[in-house]
Amino acid sequence: MDFYSLSTVLLVIFITCLLAKYTRMMLEKAKLPPGPTPLPIIGTLYKLNLNNIVNSLMELHQIYGDIFTIYEGNRPCVVLCGYKAIKETLIDKAEEFSGRAYFPVFYDYSKGDDLAFSNGEKWKELRHFSQLTLTNFGMGKRSIEERIKEEAEYVIELLRKTNGSPIDPKHHLHCSVCNVICSVMFGKRSDYQDEEFQNLIHCLLDSFRIMSNPWGLMYNVYPGFMKYIPGPHKQLMKNYTFITDLILKRVDNNIKSLDSNNPRDFIDCFLIKMKKEEKESATYYHHNTLVMSIMMLLFAATESVSNTLCYIFLLLMKHPNVAEKVYNEIDNVIGHRPPNYEDRLMMPYTEAFLHEVQRFADVAPLSLPHELTKDTQIRNYTFRKGTVFLTLLTSVHYDKTQFNNPKNFNPNNFLDEDGKFKKNNALMAFSAGKRSCPGMSLAVMEIFLFVTTMLQNFTIKSLVSPDDISIDPVGVGIAHIPPNYEFCLLPRSCSQE
Ligand code: HEM
Repeated sequence: MDFYSLSTVLLVIFITCLLAKYTRMMLEKAKLPPGPTPLPIIGTLYKLNLNNIVNSLMELHQIYGDIFTIYEGNRPCVVLCGYKAIKETLIDKAEEFSGRAYFPVFYDYSKGDDLAFSNGEKWKELRHFSQLTLTNFGMGKRSIEERIKEEAEYVIELLRKTNGSPIDPKHHLHCSVCNVICSVMFGKRSDYQDEEFQNLIHCLLDSFRIMSNPWGLMYNVYPGFMKYIPGPHKQLMKNYTFITDLILKRVDNNIKSLDSNNPRDFIDCFLIKMKKEEKESATYYHHNTLVMSIMMLLFAATESVSNTLCYIFLLLMKHPNVAEKVYNEIDNVIGHRPPNYEDRLMMPYTEAFLHEVQRFADVAPLSLPHELTKDTQIRNYTFRKGTVFLTLLTSVHYDKTQFNNPKNFNPNNFLDEDGKFKKNNALMAFSAGKRSCPGMSLAVMEIFLFVTTMLQNFTIKSLVSPDDISIDPVGVGIAHIPPNYEFCLLPRSCSQE
């Protein structure tokens, strides 16, 4: 057969396979919720702006309603929108929605040998262990609150040295937040100038930046193909390797100096569990699982908290009337002593403000993908085990049935008529159900203590008028990344007296 005939035969085979696959996809589509028509190979990607996928999904939500289907390449993916639909699924059918779907940008490295991307019994065990450890059981002599306070004091001293000159707070916030999770994982904080620590932060942030740009999104859709294509996504695996090498060194040090009666950090707690179960064949506690789980915790705990803090200070500058009330409450309730986490119980306005920032800033708009653990009926549809679901948290946080004028920033969303703090279940910054964020208590404690310590010590002065402050995110992918900005920190005389 000559070259021309061979090419023709191969082309015919290719087109036939494509048509067969497409026909199957269209037959399956008929059983799924409505959505844009998928095309072969690209699915419904042509309907999504890869630079702002959240906006595109919100537009499709307007057209197709609360439950619709998109295609990431050939993979159907059901999108859930609005408080009602997400409650009906993540909360009312929590067990069915507790599966984690394949998420190549992380899974291809960890192979699911970690807390966030595993499934079944292994995930249940690792999650239970991590939650207990993160909420302080068996975490040794120093509480998590003490670790956060230590870091907050350190960063305040550093910021004092700026002497009121303009600074971009992002760097300090990333360092301090990363140090808190490092202190919990590795037992001690690092110096901000430490080269290895700086490289760790660079790798974490750079990876998030790549995941939030079109390269990262394309990797998640076509992992098999993108592996062979040069581009920024290639840097992801290099960043992960750097991070795991660092974790390996820390784990080795802990193994050498482990005292089972005196665990110093997360690593020690895991090693003790590993030792306890070493003779059991069905144990989930392995060396690699420890390394991969720490990597995921470092990722999960750094960008999310520091982006929230960046938004908090930005929104305080944008809304000076809100800032004034927060300052007053700090002065009245805390005064000059260092803040404690339990102070929040007497600070309804500050609590409402922090909750409203979490709603409005919506730092994890797409959450992480879920997968059904069994066949499940939702509204008029029967979904098969393994169906992939995306929960569009933005559509909950901006749900008009749950919040008045959701596009306006307003702490009153979380206050009752008497000015008392009022919970709203439609705040789902940490998602909901069995996969909801296990770091929530650490994150809210960290946010409260950092913000109150900072505002107790400094007046935040914007360089521009509130009307000229932009709050539009600069990255919209798996995270809403706040814009860069500068402020001056003026020492507060009342807290210095
Ligand atoms: C403001 C800060 C944070 C936000 C907004 C946030 C948000 C989220 C969201 C939306 C998810 C996905 C939940 C789902 O799949 O339904 C998640 C998962 C997760 N988060 Fe957080 N998170 C934050 C801080 C943290 C911290 C501090 C830690 C660790 C100490 C952490 C650890 C994790 C882990 C391990 C998962 C995966 C859980 C699982 O698969 O079972 N997060 N987070």
